[in-house]
Amino acid sequence: MPPSNFSSSNGGNNLVSTFDSTKVVPVSAMAAALAKPDQSPYYIAFDKVRADAYNHLTNPNGIIQLGLSENTLSLDLINEWLMKNLNDSLCRGSDFGYNIDKLAPYQPFDGTKELKEVMASFMSQVLGKTIKFVPSQIVLTCGANPANEMLCNCVADPGDAFLVPAPYYPGFNRDMKIRTTVELIPVHTRSSDNFIVTIEALDEAYNQAIKQGKRVKGLLFANPANPVGTMFGRETLHNLLDFAREKNIHIISDEIYAGSRYGNEQFVSMAEIIEARSMDKDRVHIVYGLSKDLCIPGFRLGVVYTWNQDVLIASKKFTRFCSVPLPIQQILISMLSDTKFTQNFLKVNQERLRKRYDLFVEGLEKLGLGYTKGSAGLYCWVNMSRLMSSNDEKGELELWEKLLNIAKISVTPGAACHSSEPGWFRCCFAKLSEKDVSLTIERIRKVEETCNVSG
Ligand SMILES: Cc1ncc(COP(=O)(O)O)c(C=O)c1O
Repeated sequence: MPPSNFSSSNGGNNLVSTFDSTKVVPVSAMAAALAKPDQSPYYIAFDKVRADAYNHLTNPNGIIQLGLSENTLSLDLINEWLMKNLNDSLCRGSDFGYNIDKLAPYQPFDGTKELKEVMASFMSQVLGKTIKFVPSQIVLTCGANPANEMLCNCVADPGDAFLVPAPYYPGFNRDMKIRTTVELIPVHTRSSDNFIVTIEALDEAYNQAIKQGKRVKGLLFANPANPVGTMFGRETLHNLLDFAREKNIHIISDEIYAGSRYGNEQFVSMAEIIEARSMDKDRVHIVYGLSKDLCIPGFRLGVVYTWNQDVLIASKKFTRFCSVPLPIQQILISMLSDTKFTQNFLKVNQERLRKRYDLFVEGLEKLGLGYTKGSAGLYCWVNMSRLMSSNDEKGELELWEKLLNIAKISVTPGAACHSSEPGWFRCCFAKLSEKDVSLTIERIRKVEETCNVSG
């Protein structure tokens, strides 16, 4: 029987007149949660900056963006390369016009063989020259975020948990949790340890999680660390692997900043550690991408590198939802094959990062603000607790609001990164010109004047 408000005798015309416009058609719980306004200061600030972004010519009183991990310092080099090579890279292999056979048809979603080959060489160049990355162990994705999420789906089930040394990249909460519904358990670190995680802290977090009936499936971290800018040494990496073996869990090592170094320390990839410990290969997965080291987040190129055959095959199937468009792949094949360009780019970009970092911390020192000595990444982890009215999360968020609304600089408060010590803020300096650095420091000074600062 048709529903009472449906009349078939007039061809269903009554449908319009009897429709109850107050009734909302329900969406999924996931969509409903996503549709709500963001609560994290990390995202709130993005919206504010979008509406009033600083531009030294057109909006000099706008908000300066230090909350986004983006590097524009070397975009001139990318632009120069594209001006010279873009057309050729899209025509490669064709005598006439664009090589449409390489641009238009379906291709394997996990990336072309050619791009995997040049990516394997580029990863050796960046993550460690002694490491031989095998192209067939690479899965290409549209950015590192989908790579992380995909791995999460491969090693954990809904409700399972990951241990994540904190402070950690605020985006992990969104990227790793929303669709997978896994739980991220922050493992706290201390400024006195330079925010490097200890095995004692990992053990404690693990045992507590197990006591609460949680199923811990992995350890997730960014190395170089976002937001602190430090790198894990060989010994720490061995200890992390020992821990993972003992608990029989996975490791996801996100190494997206490996080439964005500005200190003198050498970067050590988990891939190098695993070379000597082949029995642990199945539990280690590396995430990489070009968003940071080549300054091209808009190209959306990420990598999963895994030794685990099940994870490899499953990841390839997941790329149906996150594949890299072929024109982008063609451009990147040409760019990454141009090793003269990539070598020079990495060198120049690192020099520029170092200069901008030095200038930024010089300004902080003049203000008497402490910071963690970083050696990689696009940001500085700054201790502004001196400017807070109270040494707790409330004081931190109050200062964050002052910085945003009075000083008009957008930074990421430590609370958004699950920092256990209030007063730390992540400041991305790699989008700032030299003049913008001075202006930023001047704006922080203005906030200092409004604070009741004691010594
Ligand atoms: C540690 C880390 N992983 C992943 C990403 C996301 O990279 P992509 O833009 O390639 O998705 C970021 C971006 O800030 C990051 O800091």
